[in-house]
Amino acid sequence: MKKFRGIYLKNENEIGLLREAGRIVAAILEELRLQVAPGVRTLEFEERALELCDTYKVKPAFKGYLGYPYALCCSVNEEVVHGFPSERVLAEGDLVSFDMGVVYKGFFGDSALTVPVGKVDDVAGKLLAVTRDALFQGIDQAEVGNDLYDISRAVQKYVEGRGFSVVRRFVGHGIGKNLHEKPEVPNFAPAGAQRVSLQPGMVLAIEPMVTAGGPDVEVLSDKWTAVTKDRSLAAHFEHTVAVTKNGPVILSVRD
Ligand code: MF3
Ligand code: CO
Repeated sequence: MKKFRGIYLKNENEIGLLREAGRIVAAILEELRLQVAPGVRTLEFEERALELCDTYKVKPAFKGYLGYPYALCCSVNEEVVHGFPSERVLAEGDLVSFDMGVVYKGFFGDSALTVPVGKVDDVAGKLLAVTRDALFQGIDQAEVGNDLYDISRAVQKYVEGRGFSVVRRFVGHGIGKNLHEKPEVPNFAPAGAQRVSLQPGMVLAIEPMVTAGGPDVEVLSDKWTAVTKDRSLAAHFEHTVAVTKNGPVILSVRD
């Protein structure tokens, strides 16, 4: 596979396979979204996600990755990312984030979204909308010739301009035949980083993680669950996006 500054460039055929992986992730997340309601145990989403992987004949990408024990990341309220599906029961007013990855014919798809449980308060509602919109602000910058960090800056500006914080500890990433490839895609302008001009064939998982309080996170004693240090609410949206001559193409969507 061709490389530009250590970043794999995918050809049309490879982008087609990533598109199929992305389509399947999107279909799974849509099913999970429809299942969200007060009273649902978060392990039920894991069970459904595994069933759907069978249905679509894909492998879950996260299970076993660096020892992560589940197919799905399910993070509630102050949990930012990498929450474990558990016996926890969702309550009205919660925010639940699903992050799902699959492998299709050796190619990865990765996407996340945050869903309100029943009716949520104004801050939670605004946090959801700002995080989702920040993702699309970032995606809009995924144009050939732009700087990679134009994506980062767009996300950060959008979020901070609305009074929320971007998480710095976790970042987006290149994706292809591996879940995590170069480059890192931060949601903030990294100090002293060199320009990386975006090339056709780059495929990026852009994933703003946003909090209603400060940007700091800590990882719980389970070694995975990342929570906001101040226990403020968090949201997470992610798409797998191809940089093409015709502009950004979101791969992790249904048709
Ligand atoms: N979307 C996340 C990421 O890109 C999920 C990884 S969870 C893990 O890093 F278990 F696979 F690490
Ligand atoms: Co990701």
